[in-house]
Amino acid sequence: MCGIIGYVGENQAVPVLLGGLKKLEYRGYDSSGIGVLHPEKAQIVLRKSDGKIKNLEKLIAKQPFPKSTIGISHTRWATHGAPNKVNAHPHADGSGHILIVHNGIIENYELLKKDLKKRGHTFKSDTDSEVIAHLIESYYKGDLFAAVKKAIKKLNGAYALGVISSYHPDLLIAARIGSPLIIGCGKNENFIASDAPAILDCTRRVIYLKDGHMATLSKSQIKVFDFNGKVVKPKIDRITYSLDAVAKQGFDHFMMKEMHEQPDVLKKMLASCIKGKQVVLDGWNLSEQQIKNISNITIVACGTAYHAGMVGRYIIEALAGISVNVDVSSEFRYRNPILSKKSIVIAISQSGETADTLAAVREAKQKGAKIVSICNVLGSSLARESDAVLYTHAGPEIGVASTKAYTAQLGMLYLLAIKLAMVKKYISTSEINTLITQLKKVPSLYTKILKTKTSIAKIARTNSHFGCFLFLGRNINYPTAMEGALKLKEISYIPAEGYAAGEMKHGPIALIDEYRAVVCIATESDTYEKMISNIQEIRSRKGKVIAIATEGDKNISKHATHVVYVPKTHKLLTPLLAALPLQLIAYYISVKRGCDVDQPRNLAKSVTVE
Ligand code: M6R
Repeated sequence: MCGIIGYVGENQAVPVLLGGLKKLEYRGYDSSGIGVLHPEKAQIVLRKSDGKIKNLEKLIAKQPFPKSTIGISHTRWATHGAPNKVNAHPHADGSGHILIVHNGIIENYELLKKDLKKRGHTFKSDTDSEVIAHLIESYYKGDLFAAVKKAIKKLNGAYALGVISSYHPDLLIAARIGSPLIIGCGKNENFIASDAPAILDCTRRVIYLKDGHMATLSKSQIKVFDFNGKVVKPKIDRITYSLDAVAKQGFDHFMMKEMHEQPDVLKKMLASCIKGKQVVLDGWNLSEQQIKNISNITIVACGTAYHAGMVGRYIIEALAGISVNVDVSSEFRYRNPILSKKSIVIAISQSGETADTLAAVREAKQKGAKIVSICNVLGSSLARESDAVLYTHAGPEIGVASTKAYTAQLGMLYLLAIKLAMVKKYISTSEINTLITQLKKVPSLYTKILKTKTSIAKIARTNSHFGCFLFLGRNINYPTAMEGALKLKEISYIPAEGYAAGEMKHGPIALIDEYRAVVCIATESDTYEKMISNIQEIRSRKGKVIAIATEGDKNISKHATHVVYVPKTHKLLTPLLAALPLQLIAYYISVKRGCDVDQPRNLAKSVTVE
C-alpha cells in the first residue's frame, strides 16, 4: 500500500524516481509526487498530481525539474485525507527544507498535530503523514539523523519513511516499522524502495530493512542503525528474478500474463517438492514427532489467500485427519483463539506484508503456537517472523487481482497436506500416490484450459451486462465460489456473492430473476446431483447459469445456460482447475466493461494497514 522510491547518487534522480514509481504503481495509484533538492540553491522542488502516475509525468513535462541527484517520491493509496494533489506525498515541514514520504498509518497523528499546532506549526494537508515532517522540523538542530531519530520515537503505528533535507544535499534517511522498505545498493548511487521491482534495473543488491531499523544513505555509503542509533551490520541479499518477470511481455494486462504463468509456476513447484514418492518441502522444519503431536491447525489469511486457506482446510482434514480452523486475519484477534504449543498456525500471504495477517501471527505466537507461513515474497516481514516458511516461488505478481499466487498457495497446501498425511498415515499410500500422480498432471491441464480461453471470453462477454452475480459451490469448491466472486467484484465492480450452494435457499434465492447470472461450480463430485438441483432451482426462476463442469459431462448442458468445461482430475484437486476459468471470466468481463484490470479502483496490491 503506497509505493516509495528514493535516490541519492551521481545520476539524475528524476528519471530513476519516475521509472521506479511506474513499477510501484500497483501498490497504490490515487495520487503521486516527486520531490528533489535543488542542485544550486538550498531548496526543495516538488511536483505532485492527483490520479495515476501518467498525470505526474505530464506535469513534469510541462514543469521540468532542475537537474538534481537526490530525491524521494511516492504513489499513494489514500487512508487519511482525500486522494488529491494537496494530500499527495512528499510532504514538507513548515520551513520548506525537510521533505518526507511515508507509507503506513500514524495512529497518534491527531494528538501530535494538536501539539505541533499549539507550537505554531501550520499544516497544509489532511494526512497523518505531514506531522512527521513537522515533528522532524521541531527536533532539528543541525543534525537531520538525530532529528529523525527523535521524531520516530514519538510515532505510534506503522511506517516506512524516506526523508531528505535541503540542509543536507547528500543525505537520504530511511526508517521502518510495520511497512516494507528495502535499500538498493548501487555503485556511486543508492536507493530506497517499497518493493524490489522499483530499482531492479539499477541494482540487484538489496538490504531488507528490518522493523525498528533506520538507515542513512549517501551516494557512496549506507549505514544501518537501530532506533537508539546503535550501528547494525546489514545483510546484503541478491534479487535473482529477471526484469521480464515484472514486464507484460506482450500481454495486454499483467493479470492475463500471470494467469498464463500458472502452468509453469505449479510445474516448477511440483518438480522441486516431489522427489520420487516423497514430498520434500524446503523450509519445513517440523520433525515427524512434532507432526504427530499437532493437536489442531489454524489458518489465517486475507482475501484470496483466505480462500486458499479455506480450500486448505478441506484438504488437510481429508488427507491428514487434523482438525483445521480458518480465520480471516483481521478477525483472529477479536475472538479468543485457543492455541497451545501443539498448535500450528499457517499464515498465507502473497506479499508477506499484509498488516492484518502479521498482527494475527503475532497474536498466535504470543499464545505459544508455531507459525508456518506460505508466502511468495522472499524476505518479507511474514517470512521473517515465521518459524518455518514455505515459499511458493510464483514470481512477482503485479496485477492487483491475485491469480498465480492463489493457485500457487493451493499447490503448496496440497503438498503440505500430503506431507502431513504421510506422517499421520491417515490415508493409504496408494491413495497418496494416486493424488501425487494426478497433481503432477495439473500444469498440463492448465495449458489445456488456457487454450479454451476464446470460448470462455465469449461466455463472459455475453454475460457482462448483468448487474449482480452469484457464485455457488459445495464442499471443497465452496471456497472456489467465494474466490470467483471476489475476482469478479474487484476488477469489474459488479456486486458478486460467493455462497455455499446449500445456503442459497436460506436467502440468496431471493435475488434470482432473469437479471441475475449465477456461476455454479458443478465439477464431478459427491455433491454433483445437489448442484444440479441448485441449477434447476435457479433456472426455474429465470436466472442464467454458467456452469463449470467436468469434460465429458453430457448432462450439464441440459440444465445450464452456458457450460465451461475443465479436464477431469482427482475430486480433491478440482479447486485448482476451477479457479482458472473463474479468473478468465472475471478478466473478460472487466475488459468488456472498460475497467482497469490491473489497477482496480480503491484497491492496492499489498495491504499494509490494519
Ligand atoms: O498479500 P496477501 O496475499 O496477504 O494479500 C491478501 C489480500 O489482500 C489479497 O489476496 C486480495 O484479496 C487480492 N486483491 C485478491 O485478488
